[in-house]
Amino acid sequence: MSSGVPPYIVWKSEYSVREPTLDAQHQEIFQIINTLYGQIRSGVTDEEFYELVEKAKGFADRHFRTEERVMYDCGFPELDNHERAHRRYVEKVVALTPTKPRDSDERAYDLLSFLKQWWKNHVKRMDQKYVSYLQHLHHPVKAVGGDD
Ligand SMILES: [Fe+2]
Ligand SMILES: [Fe+2]
Repeated sequence: MSSGVPPYIVWKSEYSVREPTLDAQHQEIFQIINTLYGQIRSGVTDEEFYELVEKAKGFADRHFRTEERVMYDCGFPELDNHERAHRRYVEKVVALTPTKPRDSDERAYDLLSFLKQWWKNHVKRMDQKYVSYLQHLHHPVKAVGGDD
């Protein structure tokens, strides 16, 4: 975490899906959004910026794959709709990622603002819909993909 910069996106207990692996992934994503914000505020190089954006994309991808597997395994009926929301997010992030080299911070802030709103709303509303189905899981949740 960068020093002296207030968090841009703040985790709240109401965002919890009451499953530790998924909560940890959500919190990790919140943290990388804050890191990205802190870096842009304090003057980030293009190299650092694109590295962080790629990291955020990787986190989100692993989280979506984990969550989609969980929703499938517990028989969540709105899986298709939820998967579509994840796909739309991925497309939007690609569209909002500033082209290289960055000409200004403006587009970076547009991307950040989208990330903040999307994750807050998605975790608070859409992800909450599968919570009551988690009791049907027969095994602990394991993160899918990635090794870092
Ligand atoms: Fe989700
Ligand atoms: Fe999620």
